Amino acid sequence: MIGTDLLGIEDLERADIERILDTAEHMREVGRRVVKKVPTLRGRTIVNLFFESSTRTRASFEIAGKRLSADVINFSPSSSSLKKSESILDTARTLDAMDPDAVVVRHSVAGVPKQIADVLAAPVINAGDGAHEHPTQALLDLLTVKLEKGRIDGLTVTIVGDILHSRVARSNIYAFGKMGAEVRIAAPPPMIPAAVETLGVKVFTSLREAIEGVDVVMALRIQSERLAGCYLPSVREYSSTFGIDREKLKYAKEDVIVMHPGPVNRGVELSHDLTDHRPSVILDQVRNGVAIRMAVLYLLSGRRQEDAQRIDLGSGEGR
Ligand code: NCD
Repeated sequence: MIGTDLLGIEDLERADIERILDTAEHMREVGRRVVKKVPTLRGRTIVNLFFESSTRTRASFEIAGKRLSADVINFSPSSSSLKKSESILDTARTLDAMDPDAVVVRHSVAGVPKQIADVLAAPVINAGDGAHEHPTQALLDLLTVKLEKGRIDGLTVTIVGDILHSRVARSNIYAFGKMGAEVRIAAPPPMIPAAVETLGVKVFTSLREAIEGVDVVMALRIQSERLAGCYLPSVREYSSTFGIDREKLKYAKEDVIVMHPGPVNRGVELSHDLTDHRPSVILDQVRNGVAIRMAVLYLLSGRRQEDAQRIDLGSGEGR
């Protein structure tokens, strides 16, 4: 439930998701101003605690916090006492004693954000934990589809690729399912999690059948850092059977959009041409990511404000 932590889409109700998307639509407007700053979280402190590497998610949370006038601290494990073997929870407790208003956590092990949330007073936002969940990525994907298509309910979305190791896939399966879309997954058998049908998805091993008539195709990065012990086809075989190019897209709806959470392995998950041009919307996803993170930071770290329900977007000075 929104109001405490954001650990996964699995915990959210449809109404929570709608509230975040509506708030993010207001936040998008701030990003279009000349002066991209509103006083909403002035005096608040947000800690970015990234134990695993990240480019766009970390920068996105930092920009989001700064656009809301919060002070954002980036905690880098390599330069901290973790090198002196201080435990993750001790580090979290130490940071908590500095009274942050929100802590954003990324870790390569599933469940670490939850463990940290259990000891912290501040709200914790999961920025990706192992192959478990990446809720703000799914929320920005929902927002991108909503803005492109005008709705999510009734659409068909096919997620293609390394479903087994992908926290993005898991969060999106929950997210699009809760919002009333039909979710299909397509992957070589070793990349399909056991019993994934129980999450309400239709499973395909033929890409052509999976994308027949769909509104959205979402390609996933091959998670090479999580592949140990997993038998997979060669990269060339993968890209010829599951890589998305314009030829394969002909089976989808004429107005299909193509998504990818990034970073893209160009020529593997997506053809070079599709990586850079419509119908792919990869940079829109990045842009919408800032608005989603502003919304989530506002709804969580702003919750102690008496007027937390009111969205204060300032005067628009400098627009
Ligand atoms: C994703 C991640 O880290 O889970 N990237 C991201 O946050 N934009 C996807 C990926 O790494 O493949």
